[in-house]
Amino acid sequence: MNRAPELAERLLFKEAATLVERAYAPYSGFAVGAVVVGPSGRSHHGVNVENASYPAGLCAERAALAAMVAFGERSLRYVAVAAVDGRDCLPCGLCLQALAEFGDPAIVAHMCGEVRVVPLSDLLTTPFAFGDGARGGPAGDGAGEAGR
Ligand code: THU
Repeated sequence: MNRAPELAERLLFKEAATLVERAYAPYSGFAVGAVVVGPSGRSHHGVNVENASYPAGLCAERAALAAMVAFGERSLRYVAVAAVDGRDCLPCGLCLQALAEFGDPAIVAHMCGEVRVVPLSDLLTTPFAFGDGARGGPAGDGAGEAGR
């Protein structure tokens, strides 16, 4: 069930909207900015980066997620997504799976013409996980040797 954003969530969405102009989306023209927030409260930024070889392109949400993990955080609280011209944009299925690896954040996004907040788990009820339920799969939580 989605709800209206609180002030801090509205500000996160605005922050994502400021990133849209940095997106590299010459093929689709659909520029996207994303902000993810982990336990520290710090914002991590991403934009979509397209490629002449289309499948090599990257969504804004996964770019922001990579920035968060590179910073050293592995838990998601918020994911704000904004697209060019205030167009509706929820994370794609691939991004939902990638984000679900790191928790059940509140997704702040334009949907049905306005900014709303929805839990990731409402959008992707059953993310793939290895059968034993272990986060990170057989190799553990990813925090092991050599940063696996
Ligand atoms: N895209 C994102 O970056 N995030 C989304 O949530 C949906 C789609 C990008 C991928 C591609 O560069 C362009 O938008 C059109 O699909």
